[in-house]
Amino acid sequence: MATWIRFLAVVALLACLFPAMIECRIRHYKFNVVLKNATRLCSTKPIVTVNGHFPGPTLYAREDDTVLVKVVNHVKYNVSIHWHGIRQLRTGWADGPAYITQCPIQPGQSYVYNFTITGQRGTLWWHAHILWLRATVHGAIVILPKLGVPYPFPSPHEEVVFILGEWWKSDVEAVINEAIKSGLAPNVSDAHTINGHPGPVSGCLSQGGFNLQVEAKKTYMLRLINAALNEELFFKIAGHKLTVVEVDATYVKPFKTDTVLIAPGQTTNILLTADARTGKYLVAASPFMDSPIAVDNVTATATLHYSGSVSNVATKLTTPPPINATKVATNFVNSLRSLNSKQYQANVPLTVDRNLLFTVGIGVNPCSTCVNGSRVVADINNVSFVMPTISLLQAHFFNISGVFTDDFPGNPLNPYNYTGVQPANLRTMTGTRLYRLAYNSTVQLVLQDTGMITPENHPLHLHGYNFFVVGMGKGNFNPKKDPKSFNLVDPVERNTIGVPSGGWVAFRFRADNPGVWFMHCHLEIHTTWGLKMAFVVDNGHGPGESLLPPPSDLPEC
Ligand code: C2O
Repeated sequence: MATWIRFLAVVALLACLFPAMIECRIRHYKFNVVLKNATRLCSTKPIVTVNGHFPGPTLYAREDDTVLVKVVNHVKYNVSIHWHGIRQLRTGWADGPAYITQCPIQPGQSYVYNFTITGQRGTLWWHAHILWLRATVHGAIVILPKLGVPYPFPSPHEEVVFILGEWWKSDVEAVINEAIKSGLAPNVSDAHTINGHPGPVSGCLSQGGFNLQVEAKKTYMLRLINAALNEELFFKIAGHKLTVVEVDATYVKPFKTDTVLIAPGQTTNILLTADARTGKYLVAASPFMDSPIAVDNVTATATLHYSGSVSNVATKLTTPPPINATKVATNFVNSLRSLNSKQYQANVPLTVDRNLLFTVGIGVNPCSTCVNGSRVVADINNVSFVMPTISLLQAHFFNISGVFTDDFPGNPLNPYNYTGVQPANLRTMTGTRLYRLAYNSTVQLVLQDTGMITPENHPLHLHGYNFFVVGMGKGNFNPKKDPKSFNLVDPVERNTIGVPSGGWVAFRFRADNPGVWFMHCHLEIHTTWGLKMAFVVDNGHGPGESLLPPPSDLPEC
C-alpha cells in the first residue's frame, strides 16, 4: 500500500512538471530576467526581458490553480514583478510593486512568487513594477475556467494573445532619468507595437509585423492587453466587427463594435469571426488622447490573413479613429456591462461604509535644479506620493513605525471648482500617506479629474481588488444628483478604469482582502510623478480573514 501511494505521489509530481499537457493544480514557472538584443525593433540597444523574449512568456493557469514563479534577476537593475489583476487573497507578499508589498529583487538574487487564483478566469497580465522596466518586461496571464466549465459564449476555434506595447529607440531608463532630472515631461515613444512588432518607424526597415492566420468562417478569441507605458489605444481590424466578451478577467454582456478602446493596464477579450471575403486585412492600434498633450502618433499594424488567399493580394486598409475621438472612446466605455448571469453575478455593494472623493491631476512644484526652476508633479487629493525605502506591507505587518502614516485625506482638503478655471496655486503636498479600511467594509470611491494644468484621462488601477464602475460623468461630481443614476445592477467589474478627461468616475468594492494595496495611474509617467497612494486593509477575525506571514525568501532592502 505504501509503495502504491509513493508511486502516485511520483506520478503527480511528474505531471506537475508538464502542466501544459496534464491537468495539474500547481504551475511552476521560471523567469530569468536577462538583457537581450532587440534587433526586430531596429535598435542596437539591448532591452531587459524575461527569458530573452519580448513580449515575455505567457503564463497559463486554471481557476483555483496555485502558481509558483521563480524570478531570477540577472540584470543590473533592481527588479520586481506584478501579476496585474490577480486578487492575491491574503497573499499580498506576492503582489509585486516594489517598496509597496516587497523590497525589490536585487541583481543576482531571486524570489518565488506564490499565489492561488481564486474566483477569476480570463486574461490578465504580468509586468515589472519598478523603474520603467515594464516597457519590455511584460507578458500575458491566461486563466482558463475550471476543468469542464465552458465559456459563457460559443467556444472559439482558437485563442490568440495580442499584446499592444510602446517602444523607444533609446534606452527607456535613460528617457525617464532625463525627465526626472529636468523636471519636464519625457520624450514620447517612437512606435507602438503589436506582439513586439512595431508599425512603420522612420529609419527602421519594416520587418513584416505580426500575422494572424485565420480560416474562413471560424471564430477566434483575441486576448488584448495594453502594455504601453503612457498611451491609451484604439484597436481596429479592417472589414470585421469585434464582439467584446470579457474585460479585466470578468465576463461582460457581449456587444459588437468596430473599435475597442483599451487603456494601459486593461485587458479585453474579443471574438472575431472570419466572415469577410478571403484576403488580407489590416489590424491597427493607434493612440487616443483628447487633451493638448504630446503623444506618439504612430499606428502599429499587424495583418489578418485568410488561409488560401494569394500572398500578393492587397491588404484591405482601415482608418483608425482620430487621436482625439472622445465620442468613440465614450461609446465603447458606455457599452460595457457585467454579464451578471446566475453563474457570474455582479455582487455590487448596495450600502456604503466609506464614501471617498479623490481628485487626480497634475501640479507644479518648485525645483532649484530643474530646467524651469520647477518640476511637473502629479497627485491624488493634492498629495504627491513619496515612495518609502522599505516595503509598506512589511512596515504594516511588523508594526515598523516611521515608514508611513494612515492619514491620507478621504476628501479634498481644499475643495475648489476642479474642472473650472485653473487655480492660482498649482503646488502639491508630499507624503507617504495611506488610507485605512476595516476588513469587509464597503467603499465608494469617486475619482475626480482636475484641470490643474490641463484635464486629462487617467487610467487608475487598484491592486488586490476588482471594483464595480457604478457611474461616470462630465464636469464636477455632484454628490446629491449623480448617485441617483448609478448602475447598481450590472455595472462593469474591472481593476483599471479611465477617469474621463475633465470628468469623474465612481466605483464600489468590498475591502475583503487584508494587506497594503497600491492604487495609481497606469500612465507610467503619472505614477513616476506621484499620482499614487495605497490602502491599508486591516485583518478581520481569525486566520481566514488575515494576511499570511511573509515567505522566507522575501527580498530585503
Ligand atoms: Cu499594472 Cu501597479 O500595476
